Amino acid sequence: MTGPRQEELLHREAAHLAPGASEESALGRRVFVEGRGAVLTDLDGNQYIDLAAGTLTQSLGHCPPEVVAALTEQAARLWNVHDSATPDRAALCELLARLLPEELDTYAFFSTGAEVVEAALRAVQAVAEPGRNRIGALRHGFHGKTQGARMLVHWDIGNQAHAGNSVLGYSPYCYRCPLDLEYPSCEVRCAGLVRRHIAEKPNVSALVFEPVLGAAGVIVPPPGYWERIADTCRDNGVLLVADEVLTGGGRTGTFLACERFGIEPDLVTLSKGLASGFPFAVLAGRSSVLRHPRAAAAGSTASTYANNPLGIAAARATLEVVARDTLIARVRTLGALMDERLAELRSRFPVLGDVRGLGLLHGLEFVRDPATREPAPELARAVYLAALDLGLRTSVGGHVIRLAPPFTIDRTLLEEGLTLLGRALEQATEAHR
Ligand SMILES: Cc1ncc(COP(=O)(O)O)c(C=O)c1O
Repeated sequence: MTGPRQEELLHREAAHLAPGASEESALGRRVFVEGRGAVLTDLDGNQYIDLAAGTLTQSLGHCPPEVVAALTEQAARLWNVHDSATPDRAALCELLARLLPEELDTYAFFSTGAEVVEAALRAVQAVAEPGRNRIGALRHGFHGKTQGARMLVHWDIGNQAHAGNSVLGYSPYCYRCPLDLEYPSCEVRCAGLVRRHIAEKPNVSALVFEPVLGAAGVIVPPPGYWERIADTCRDNGVLLVADEVLTGGGRTGTFLACERFGIEPDLVTLSKGLASGFPFAVLAGRSSVLRHPRAAAAGSTASTYANNPLGIAAARATLEVVARDTLIARVRTLGALMDERLAELRSRFPVLGDVRGLGLLHGLEFVRDPATREPAPELARAVYLAALDLGLRTSVGGHVIRLAPPFTIDRTLLEEGLTLLGRALEQATEAHR
């Protein structure tokens, strides 16, 4: 239950605040005042284990001391000089060159996920050969809410659809196979159709994709899906643009999720986990694309907040900790623990139709009946709310709950969070019986 001080504040705010908040904020009705590590505190003094890591941003937890120090120091020195060089920017470039695959050696810096996706689209369109004026995207992909990004999003994100000049391909959603097939006897037919519809089309310049589809419920492709598509894109001159705004920075157990699938992209967008929740985004690419004369026009990587010294300081400090403390290896270890614990929950609760994930990114799909697989958003919401009341924060959207703990979370706290999730499932399923 939302406490009395929070209720009073939410009431005051509602008099002026435009509606349209995320499902989880609107439902949860919590006013958070502080975050330390993996624990949040609300205005009434209640505490929560945050297994959503902010909005999948807090890879190092809330207010990591190294990032607080870097931001405080930078805030006292310099905030904005347009996109002029600063000493930190050179250091961040070198750090990224160490963390990213060798061929992704050229970078541009922005503030948000949608902004960096737009920058990737501009680069693709700049280098595209004449006649290649269409962009490939996947069903269930999410790339942001600006006009260009929305053109790639083909499902209801609370706005009218806007398909623009994108070409749509099948996503690897095995639990709800659009072709009604079963893996592996399907022989990954969905990938074969993406090849036909996108990768072999002469007018498509790029495929923009999430290697693991995050917002639609953590859809993890089966072996064979990306291999088939990536090779055909390469053979047909279709650029591979990996949108790793959510997965990039280590969340799936490698710095890029692409590395887990053997994809060698031409461009990559990164944002959420890179700067501990400070607005920041990176476009990383092959120099053949980002240094191409048509992509390198004056001002093409500039904007008011692009290259912001505060964002750069936060990103540099965050990534230095990720590297220093070998946190990506920790993601794999803790991810295996989550796999185990979530498999137990799935066997106890048939309403958990599917549980899937990679590293520290998991999706729990709720169904009314495991036989029909009819989605149960009311149950996902009930579990989300019961968990909050028990002191656990997760991320809910439609009939899916996502879990994405900080990489730094203490193992015991993670176990405690998963125990609370089990209790929330008991309460919610009991109430819906
Ligand atoms: C894969 C992906 N791309 C782009 C975006 C858009 O990012 P932002 O909300 O920062 O604009 C998101 C946001 O969740 C995302 O998950």
